[in-house]
Amino acid sequence: GAPVSADVSKLEPGQRMTVEWRGRPVWVVRRTPDMIERTENFDPARLADPDSQEPQQPAYITGPLRSVRPEYSVLIGICTHLGCSPLFRPEPDDVDMTAWPGGYFCPCHGSYFDLSGRVFRNVPAPLNLEVPPYRFDGDAVIVVG
Ligand code: FES
Repeated sequence: GAPVSADVSKLEPGQRMTVEWRGRPVWVVRRTPDMIERTENFDPARLADPDSQEPQQPAYITGPLRSVRPEYSVLIGICTHLGCSPLFRPEPDDVDMTAWPGGYFCPCHGSYFDLSGRVFRNVPAPLNLEVPPYRFDGDAVIVVG
């Protein structure tokens, strides 16, 4: 399949947009500084694969943010359990910030992922959400594929 371009020039901080690549939804989230901080500081012990050892991302993607630039997260929007579409739940839990750092919830069987798509421990989904190959073309365009 051909690469697809996502124009992020109108994407506000905290917002998500979806583009389709090879028949799959690709989510692009423009993370706020707060979202970045919450993700970087989240307890890795609560995640199944915090360092993304499983090959769910290109080799040039490293670290807890799993992105080329901290501000933008690019993920395949398909649950790694049985393929449902997880819901975007970016707000942290107000009662206890450590309980929910913001991320994605798959309603089909109850899997949780952080804002980098890292899967929690003890949920049905076995793997982090996939990061597709992508690159920036200037500051306003992300080319996926
Ligand atoms: Fe997402 Fe089962 S398909 S938890």
